[in-house]
Amino acid sequence: MKRLVRKGVEDLIPYPPGKPIEELEREMGISGSIKLASNENPLGPSPLAAQAVMDRISTLNRYPDGSGYYLKTKLSEKFKIPSERIILGNGSNELIELIVRTFLSPGDHAVQPFPTFLVYEKVVRGAGGRMTSVPLEKLGIDLQGMIEEITPETRVVFLCNPNNPTGTVISRDAMRSFLKGIPEGVIVVLDEAYMEFVTDKSTANGVDLLDTCPFLVVLRTFSKLYGLAGLRIGYGFASPMLIDYMNRVRQPFNANSLAQAAATAALDDSSFVRETLETVREGIGYLCRSLDEMGIEYLPTQTNFFLIRVPGGGKRIYELMLRKGVIIRSMDSYDLPDHIRITVGLPAENERFITTLREVLSEQGIFS
Ligand SMILES: Cc1ncc(COP(=O)(O)O)c(C=O)c1O
Repeated sequence: MKRLVRKGVEDLIPYPPGKPIEELEREMGISGSIKLASNENPLGPSPLAAQAVMDRISTLNRYPDGSGYYLKTKLSEKFKIPSERIILGNGSNELIELIVRTFLSPGDHAVQPFPTFLVYEKVVRGAGGRMTSVPLEKLGIDLQGMIEEITPETRVVFLCNPNNPTGTVISRDAMRSFLKGIPEGVIVVLDEAYMEFVTDKSTANGVDLLDTCPFLVVLRTFSKLYGLAGLRIGYGFASPMLIDYMNRVRQPFNANSLAQAAATAALDDSSFVRETLETVREGIGYLCRSLDEMGIEYLPTQTNFFLIRVPGGGKRIYELMLRKGVIIRSMDSYDLPDHIRITVGLPAENERFITTLREVLSEQGIFS
């Protein structure tokens, strides 16, 4: 048979999403499970966003505003960035895809650190591109190593700051010298999906760097801090020229009307933002103390998730915890077989995670 799919698709593995609670409970016949697997907001959606969705329901017969006027205006005011430098997406995932479809032709090359967010490589290879992955150094991003991998065929370089799955950050100084080393015309994607959780003041912030690099695209999302993962809305900042090219390629109604209304309202929800950040910080404190007491290694995090090294192998611990109704993430596909990744949850969920981990490790004879 003639080749059915485009080159590169045959070897792709579907993105492994966190297991949905409903699926686990249906398969195992259990109830009362918790999910700490997809770095979602444990408090639910922003209440102002939820109300905005209700208020817009009766307009669903109409197409969305394809220009995203109100949301872009609000983002423009908040970040002091003109609207023509802003693009909206069906989640920041869609913007990753849009960047690749706009700037990378089949056969072109891209560079990323590894492990990092799995979607970059999937999208590049799905578009017929080649990806070079530069291994992390002591679980930090090797920026110099990435620069060295750039060739004349390189069109896009991906950086995730803070990095998923490690939760580590790149400093402002390191980012500035990295950007200086990027040849003209190479697009730098700075994925800042978790930037709002960062407390380390020396961390690079893409919004402040836009004017230093005309080929920089900064991506943000409403999925994490604002609790709108199910609505699918993200945004990006770049030069008017790059935004113009991406607008030529994007679908006209890529950001749906409920998502636009919810995101616009969420930007005003300062009490929800405060509560979310407090919940995450307190959760991190509790989890660190508990893991320290158990003598379990973890990577200090700047995000709402943790990379934890587990005795007994990540996949095994993941499966055993799943049977007890606690959904976490095994890190096999990130090449970290000794690790699990967990999302910081509500206090009761964090306690349940720790109790279940203790139980599982003692049942394995690893921990008494
Ligand atoms: C680093 C990173 N970028 C982007 C995304 C996708 O976010 P969105 O829901 O906006 O598509 C995620 C989601 O897990 C992520 O971890």
